[in-house]
Amino acid sequence: MPIETWFPLAIYYEDLPDAPEHQQSLIEAVLKLESEVTESRNYPGMAWTGDIHGVNQIHQQPEFAWIVEQVEHHVSGYLQDVGVDLSKVALYIQRAWSIISRPGEEVGAHSHNTAHISAVYYIQVPTDETGDPGTLVFFNDARVNEVCPGLGSENTDIVDADNYLNQLYAAYPPVEGRLVIFPAKQRHAVTMNETEELRLSLSFDIVLTATETSAGAYEFLTPPLSQWKKFKADR
Ligand SMILES: [Fe+2]
Repeated sequence: MPIETWFPLAIYYEDLPDAPEHQQSLIEAVLKLESEVTESRNYPGMAWTGDIHGVNQIHQQPEFAWIVEQVEHHVSGYLQDVGVDLSKVALYIQRAWSIISRPGEEVGAHSHNTAHISAVYYIQVPTDETGDPGTLVFFNDARVNEVCPGLGSENTDIVDADNYLNQLYAAYPPVEGRLVIFPAKQRHAVTMNETEELRLSLSFDIVLTATETSAGAYEFLTPPLSQWKKFKADR
């Protein structure tokens, strides 16, 4: 008896061929940005992330021009793959930041609530084989086949045969020079860096809006930024 599967989550990745020639300059740029921040705000055991340290506009900096160009190209391709008509939307990098994961550090579960598409690029991945260098894990919060809510949770633990129809997460080990693109609302985490080396990556948040010409025609698209009006400061 066949079983058909529907509604797949689309995770895109590409190993960028020019990565090696840009690696060293990106490493230096990322470490310099971190060194310029005096106040540490990351929780113990959590990776240093630029978004909570005021370093979330790297897409505006010339040192990151190459990877920004790559993100724009591949995000456009991803959106076309999922059926988006690019002529009717404007795309923006809303914010972008670096992540520095030292030995023993991880990134807790979260989703990128202010964006539509997110991307991560791995500048440097530990090569020593003492442990997991920190794996990107996407959580299956939809659980469309969990016929009784909670059936597969660790508290109930009644599902005794793990298979592709009941999997609770998808794991993407980091690969140096790889760009990964996914829906920003997809909840994810990064497991602990179990090696003795640094893992360096960049994160990008992308937003879709209507264009000047498509504005007003599409109820669920954010209108173009040119049509927004900020409140007066003296309210
Ligand atoms: Fe994230």
